[in-house]
Amino acid sequence: MSFTAAFRNSLRNLLTKESSMVLTNRIPSHESLEEKFRDIDEFGLYLHIPFCRQICPYCPYNIEIYDSETAQKYALAVNREIDFYAKLLGKKPVTSFYIGGGTPTVMLRDGLEVIFDHIFKSFNLQCEIHMESHPNDLTPGNLEVIKALKVDNLSMGVESLQDKYLQLLKRPYTAEEVKRVVERTAAKDFKCFNVDFIFALPGQTYGELEKAAAELASLDIDQVASYPLFYFPYTRMGEPIKRGNYSLPEILRRRKMLRILENIYYDRGYDRTSVWAFTKQGAPKYCSVTVPLYVGLGASGGSYHRDVFFLNTFNDHEYIKTVEGGKMPIALSLDLSENMQMAWWFYWRVYETRFKRSAFQKRFGKSFNEVYGSYIRMFSALGYVKRDDGDEIVLSDKGIYWLHSVEDLFSLDYISKLWGTSKQEPWPEKVAL
Ligand SMILES: C[S@@+](CC[C@H](N)C(=O)[O-])C[C@H]1O[C@@H](n2cnc3c(N)ncnc32)[C@H](O)[C@@H]1O
Ligand code: SF4
Repeated sequence: MSFTAAFRNSLRNLLTKESSMVLTNRIPSHESLEEKFRDIDEFGLYLHIPFCRQICPYCPYNIEIYDSETAQKYALAVNREIDFYAKLLGKKPVTSFYIGGGTPTVMLRDGLEVIFDHIFKSFNLQCEIHMESHPNDLTPGNLEVIKALKVDNLSMGVESLQDKYLQLLKRPYTAEEVKRVVERTAAKDFKCFNVDFIFALPGQTYGELEKAAAELASLDIDQVASYPLFYFPYTRMGEPIKRGNYSLPEILRRRKMLRILENIYYDRGYDRTSVWAFTKQGAPKYCSVTVPLYVGLGASGGSYHRDVFFLNTFNDHEYIKTVEGGKMPIALSLDLSENMQMAWWFYWRVYETRFKRSAFQKRFGKSFNEVYGSYIRMFSALGYVKRDDGDEIVLSDKGIYWLHSVEDLFSLDYISKLWGTSKQEPWPEKVAL
């Protein structure tokens, strides 16, 4: 067993008291879901659109090449899945709605409006809409369609502003072209316009990153989500790389690069709103589903409610066939002990870079200090806490980076196992994390 795997196992034992975590094909029954959902006050919706016009060589998500006929069948299947949850959740408020992918904008004129109509009719939507998009889909006409769909917050994958890195990532546009799309989209006054940007690219210098980030900050963007390039073993770029994510030189290079981004964005009036995101002061944050219970619709949609997590089949043809046959498309589920739920809560609060002890108390009916107080004392001693007013804890930039690097030991490994297997097998018997 590698040192990384041994360290991961010990830390998981310590935090969750579990020696293993295994998702199985034991599907929650209609009755058990009805029972679980009875007491909830609100929930979030995530809708997955698994289609793209191209497959990028680094991309870990559940995607396949778009074709119009499948997309239209997919829209009708999603509507059947919505009917199932509408019966269970009735008119309880939906307080977060996120459409991700893949590339949701490939379906703009091919079923997305059919799904939106059905969601508006079936659920009690009381929130803004956040959606991902691809630059090549954001023509002036399509931006009008997006506005007409009442999307409030839009994200776009720009990834780089240098042609040689756009070519390396096989992105189908030039730096000049994508800058024009950014300007056109910024002029449409979304409440938050987020741009995704990838750094720590092979061969990228600190000077190149600084130039690109400064250029991005000079455009009229509300939020920049800057991710280091991660290597997933089942992707074309990840397959030949063995220790790309965890090698010490790479971890230190990412830290130095992230510090360059922190300096530029703080200087230009952006605040940090997650490990990788910087949001302009005064702008709302662009983010995925934010509430403790969420329902994931579509192929690879994941749902979470307190002590259970379940995941739909990744295969869109199986998804369509199963839902058309009147069955739920859930492929795998995991029951979470209380320790696992608390660790899951803590993981996301570190990701958001701040959290309140009172929120933990409200969620678990337990004192945060009794469960995690010793960790917070250790984080303070290491300089990982920027502010602690007795209730709210705000992590320092150093703390955010190093704590999240530890989290990545789990998340990158779990994603590789869970998504890697689910992409190959539509109905896996089990996946051990
Ligand atoms: C679903 S895509 C965004 C929308 C659209 N499909 C596109 O590519 O423009 C989500 C984002 O995840 C990020 N991403 C994908 N694969 C990544 C990887 N291997 N490492 C780091 N970031 C990655 C990219 O910044 C990408 O924009
Ligand atoms: S990065 Fe975006 S466009 Fe590329 S394959 Fe992934 S989801 Fe599709």
